[in-house]
Amino acid sequence: MSTADRIAALRSEGEAAVSSATGTAELEEVRVRFLGRKAELPNLLRDVGKLPPDERGPVGKGANEARKAIEAAVEARRAELEAAELEARLAADVVDVTLPGSPAVPAGHHHVITAVRREIEDVFLGLGFRVAEGPEADLVYYNFDALNFLSNHPTRLEADTFYLADDIVLRTHTSPMQVRAMELQPPPIYIIVPGRTYRRDNDATHTPQFHQVEGLAVDEDVTLGDLQGTLLSFARAIFGDERDVRLRPHFFPFTEPSVEVDVSCFNCTHGFLRDGGRCPLCKGTGWIEILGAGMVDPNVFGYVREHGYDPDRIQGFAFGMGIERIAFLKHRVPDLRMFYENDLRMLEQFG
Ligand code: DAH
Repeated sequence: MSTADRIAALRSEGEAAVSSATGTAELEEVRVRFLGRKAELPNLLRDVGKLPPDERGPVGKGANEARKAIEAAVEARRAELEAAELEARLAADVVDVTLPGSPAVPAGHHHVITAVRREIEDVFLGLGFRVAEGPEADLVYYNFDALNFLSNHPTRLEADTFYLADDIVLRTHTSPMQVRAMELQPPPIYIIVPGRTYRRDNDATHTPQFHQVEGLAVDEDVTLGDLQGTLLSFARAIFGDERDVRLRPHFFPFTEPSVEVDVSCFNCTHGFLRDGGRCPLCKGTGWIEILGAGMVDPNVFGYVREHGYDPDRIQGFAFGMGIERIAFLKHRVPDLRMFYENDLRMLEQFG
């Protein structure tokens, strides 16, 4: 076969192979087979110089044309195949927006402490209180001094309280908002203050960070009876309509008189279970302590007298409760630390 015929054969073979390639990958194989470094046609071209002078022109020209023809065929076919492949990919990717979505992701729910906080807020909003918040890092002045704590009161010690500076603590209770709130508005004032509080405690019934809700009601003619009625409504809303409350004398520096408030046990009858055994929740007493409270001490009003709180004209009651304690009583969690371990088996029980 003459070289010219061989070139013509390679050209038509190459063009046929290109046009029958069914995908871009196969096309690339064809291109390498006919035009690659080791392919016959490029080698012919490379060796043109070794031919007798009169053959060089026609062979070189023919081989060059054949190479260009195959190259052009490859490019044309590549464009066709790429378009077809894109088309196929788009068709496969089409989203049918009329199909139902994949199963809904569960929406989740509030953490039990948040849920109980909101429940408490709802009760007091219903009784006419507003919700206020205060700083978690607060001045010793608000946390202790203005609440009538003596300068040598033991909870001031670093053993109990986290100090950020000599005059700044992580608040040990929400009570510092009593004086802060009274500085911000004259009486009457009816607020509750939910928020985080901090103490150097860590055991089954204490976590170093916990939550309280403070209550403060100051007006003309506020009595201990109003405190008792308010807390009775609260106890019934949270622990059930059958509940009763009782006040026991106690001491807090910022209230006078001070009381501890118990709710009648919702787990037993007067301390006894149905089988006659002693109730473990109230330890057989029939009462469960839920919070501290009292009538605002006139000394506390002394710190906000110039804001309209004249102890001769107004009185107020205050109370403070631990949200964890309420949640723990409501849901019977054996260890307070479980609220914060974020074990879903625990948290999902409180949808
Ligand atoms: N702040 C107190 C505590 O953390 C609780 C408390 C008691 C708050 C009596 C009050 C109150 O407002 O009147 O133990």
